[in-house]
Amino acid sequence: MFQLNLIMIPQLTFIFQLQHKIRAQNFYKDVPASEEGMMGDFVEISEIDLEGSRQFLKKFGPGKAGTKRALDCGCGIGRVSKGVLFPVFESMEMLDMMEEFILHAHEVYLGDYADRVEAYYLYNLQEFSPLTKRYDVIWLQWVACHLTDKDLMEFLMRAKQSLRPNGVIFIKDNMARQGCKLDPIDSSIIRHLDIMKNIIQTAGLTILDVEKQEGFPEAIVPVWMIAMH
Ligand SMILES: C[S@@+](CC[C@H](N)C(=O)[O-])C[C@H]1O[C@@H](n2cnc3c(N)ncnc32)[C@H](O)[C@@H]1O
Repeated sequence: MFQLNLIMIPQLTFIFQLQHKIRAQNFYKDVPASEEGMMGDFVEISEIDLEGSRQFLKKFGPGKAGTKRALDCGCGIGRVSKGVLFPVFESMEMLDMMEEFILHAHEVYLGDYADRVEAYYLYNLQEFSPLTKRYDVIWLQWVACHLTDKDLMEFLMRAKQSLRPNGVIFIKDNMARQGCKLDPIDSSIIRHLDIMKNIIQTAGLTILDVEKQEGFPEAIVPVWMIAMH
């Protein structure tokens, strides 16, 4: 781990973004299409994680946001879709950059839920432009950490335009206890919550609520949930 200097000269930004994307793709090539793969070394906390998400979603989901359609960004094999989103939304759309994960989701992992998937997008999030006014909820879990500040901010701007009335965007991710750290292994950026909030507000979104995921071991990086629109 080393400190990431966030002030970059513009000519280098493109090169950094490209290297960042390639490193993440190389990392996920060797990750198995399984819950273990999605959770790294921490599959035992998957159910705690999903329950935390279900409770947080309840605050803004049915009755506030609609329940017609949600988008799961960086869905992997569909762990969050299956455990949190499918029980609430009539239909789902799912996006990931790894074909193997999406195929596994559709053919195996989602079971009957697969019938309610309207679209799978094999895309890098930084290159994805969602249709306008389409989603009641957009969920990004452990994928915002794979985008540079600029890419994340620009995606959030596009995502805001793709919300239906009362729609909400959720980010759930690792947040650094201090500053900002780059993990050179999977090329993820762990940001302090204040840095994340700053990106969200710069993108023109309003933060509705922020909550720490409880019940995770003290040894791991804190995980926070943020709801915004
Ligand atoms: C740690 S896994 C989490 C999967 C899922 N969100 C979950 O919580 O189970 C991160 C996922 O993000 C995907 N991913 C990473 N960078 C991405 C990018 N730039 N665009 C789209 N997907 C990306 C990976 O392929 C992987 O499936």
